[in-house]
Amino acid sequence: MFSGRYQNIKSKLIKILFKKYNVPNPILILNFKAYKVTAGKKGLALANAAHILSINKGVKLYIAPQITDTSFFSLNTEADILAQHCDPIIEGRGTGKVGIQNLLEIGVKGCLLNHSEYPQSIEEIVFIAKKSSEMGLKTCLCVPEPDFLANFRDAKFDMIAIEPPELIAGQVSVSKAKPQLLLRFFSEIERAHPESLKLCGAGIKNSEDVKIAKTLGADGILVSSGFTLAKDPLLALNSLLDGFF
Ligand code: G3P
Repeated sequence: MFSGRYQNIKSKLIKILFKKYNVPNPILILNFKAYKVTAGKKGLALANAAHILSINKGVKLYIAPQITDTSFFSLNTEADILAQHCDPIIEGRGTGKVGIQNLLEIGVKGCLLNHSEYPQSIEEIVFIAKKSSEMGLKTCLCVPEPDFLANFRDAKFDMIAIEPPELIAGQVSVSKAKPQLLLRFFSEIERAHPESLKLCGAGIKNSEDVKIAKTLGADGILVSSGFTLAKDPLLALNSLLDGFF
C-alpha cells in the first residue's frame, strides 16, 4: 500500500520533470493480437482502463486492437490507436486491404509494420513508410533481428522495434534473455535511424523486464500476452508502467 502510494508520487514528479525539460514520455504499445479476451466491447473496456492508467503514470500508450476492431476502437476510445497491420495502398480498389488513407479517416494514429506474425516484403514496407510519413500516419517497424534493419537505409520510421520471434508469448523477456542483442540493436538505430524511437518486445511481463529494457536504451516496449492473458490485466499493466520509473 505504501509502496503503491510512493510509486504514484514518484511517477507524478517524473511527469512534471518530463514536461519541464521536454523529455518524451516512455512508450507502451499494447498489442491485442487476436486473443478472444481482447475482442469487441471487452477489449474496448480494457483499452479505456489502460488509457486512464497510463495517463496517470505519464506513459504514452498506444493500443493496437484486433484488425477487425480498428474502427470500433478508434471511434470509441480516447486512447491512441495503432493498426496491427497496413497494406501498401492508400485507398480504392483493394478488397480486404488496410489502406493508409482509410486508417487516417477513422482517426488511427499509426500502424505496426512487418510484425513477425504478419511479415511483409521489403518493397511494401518501404512504400508504406514513405506514404505514411507524407500523409501523417506514424509507423512502427518490427524486425526479428538487428541485421534486418540494413534493408531500410533510406526509409524513415517513427518507431523501430525488435521482437525475437522465439521469445514472443514466452516466459522469459527479451530484456532478460538478450541484453547484448538489445544494446547492439539500439546503437544501430541511433547510428542509422536517429529519427526513430527505439522499442523492444517479446515476453515482457513486469516492471523488472521494463526496467532492464529501459536501462539498455529502450524508449518504449511492446507487450501482448503479459497484459492480455494476465489474471488481472490492469495489475499487470500497473507493474509494467512502474518499470519505466
Ligand atoms: O507485438 C507484441 C508482441 O509480439 C509481444 O508479444 O506476448 O510476447 O508480449 P508478447
